[in-house]
Amino acid sequence: MHKKYVALLFTAVSLVTGSSLSAQQKSTITLASQENAPTINKHIYGHFAEHLGRCIYDGFYVGEKSTVPNTNGVRNDIIAALKELGIPNLRWPGGCFADTYHWKDGIGPKDERPEMVNQWWGGVTEDNSFGTHDFLDLCETLGTEPYLAANVGSGTVQEFTEWIQYVNHTGKSPMSDLRKKNHREKAWGVNIWGVGNEAWGCGGNMTPEHYANLYRQYATFMSDWTNSGKMFRIASGANVADYHWTEVLMRDIPKNLIEGVALHSYSFVTWEKKGSSTKFDEQQYFTTMQTALKMEELVTKHTEIMDKYDPAKKIALIVDEWGGWYDVEEGTNPGFLYQQNTMRDAMIAGTTLNIFNNHSDRVRMANLAQTVNVLQAVILTKGDKMILTPTYHVMHLYKVHQDAKLIPIKVASPDYKFGDKTLPAISASASAKDGKTHISLVNIHSTDKITTEINLESLKLKNFTAKIISSGKLQDHNTFENPNAITEKEFKDFKFKNGTLSVTLPPFSVVVLEGK
Ligand code: AHR
Repeated sequence: MHKKYVALLFTAVSLVTGSSLSAQQKSTITLASQENAPTINKHIYGHFAEHLGRCIYDGFYVGEKSTVPNTNGVRNDIIAALKELGIPNLRWPGGCFADTYHWKDGIGPKDERPEMVNQWWGGVTEDNSFGTHDFLDLCETLGTEPYLAANVGSGTVQEFTEWIQYVNHTGKSPMSDLRKKNHREKAWGVNIWGVGNEAWGCGGNMTPEHYANLYRQYATFMSDWTNSGKMFRIASGANVADYHWTEVLMRDIPKNLIEGVALHSYSFVTWEKKGSSTKFDEQQYFTTMQTALKMEELVTKHTEIMDKYDPAKKIALIVDEWGGWYDVEEGTNPGFLYQQNTMRDAMIAGTTLNIFNNHSDRVRMANLAQTVNVLQAVILTKGDKMILTPTYHVMHLYKVHQDAKLIPIKVASPDYKFGDKTLPAISASASAKDGKTHISLVNIHSTDKITTEINLESLKLKNFTAKIISSGKLQDHNTFENPNAITEKEFKDFKFKNGTLSVTLPPFSVVVLEGK
């Protein structure tokens, strides 16, 4: 029998029985029609920086007088790492913090700024030394687009619209005059605006009907003061599977007032018992991956609702908070949400980004929570030291998908079985740009190698190279003592014959292949 049919038969058998009889399983990936395939919006690879724990203060921002090398108070090593990552947008200042933030407290001479208490995160007193200028100048340095999440919960329409005038107005106005007085002549031109955050919870405990009305009011007055037509307004979206929230927003908000609807969903063992970020067993790993892979169902169902009201897909689904959430590291402030980042997080990142890529007709922006020292961070710092996490490396490998044309695929995957529960072991997505094709593959199986066969005949590719992120144990992570335990390595365990690529993926690994 032809090898390919043996492989298919094996796949079919393992799909039916759900068995993991062998430590060497098989999966197949086929290309679907590329007609009408969307471009994967680079903004899917966005990040999030909240005034929370050590994300801003003692994270990004160490202050101009710090002995840690910095540019206007922001660490140079973080700037370099994020430039290399090519982050397309950065969301700030929250999160829950956003609906307590009064932007005028964070402008003008630093020694004259009032203090504030961060009521959501640890009750710490902040001196407002990192404010609007600091954030928007940082975005300019990084070459990234700012995403400002503005205060609706405890703010006013006037405060909101004045912020827009302050950062965007190119002409003469009270707020552009104030900006110039604060030594910034040129408007920054901020397009992406969040109208509050988690309005169903920390943003005001509102009903969807009440928020939709409030949104209409705020959005009516949100002018960029230049009529650029680039204003991108994002409504505070649903918590996980709250489909009613999306339904009401899509039903009640006029289409000329909205460009995006948000969605928040985190991965964890259980919300009540999150467990340690590094000391977890296989059951905790499996459960975490169940919540991570649930993203497929969430974006599918929220999209179905949006399709009903917006069949032309003009309004984007914006997953502006996602990632793994565990107990804080021992001995750290419980309100600071500082956690380590292991191969489990690499699995969450790889599978979630594949889901977003594959749904990029509707999912056009997302923000991993959060960039530095909080939740599923890409960067951790300690004193003058900085490390890159496995999640950083996944996002670094996946950056090739930014603004590339999606190649729709179908994956036939063996199961990863735990007890009586199963998950698909293989996740994948593919795209093409500048004459290169990229395929990102994740094997979440905790013990089994999986050989994946991909028929690429129609793409006429000749040469392949690949990189991998893998490690001996799921709990492995980078530390300040051993910062390069997990990095991107060259990967060679693949063959290309008669148009079919055969890749053998080690357990819990992420591989990105490049073909040309
Ligand atoms: O990312 C931490 C918090 O999670 C955010 O502040 C909030 O929006 C969400 O509940």
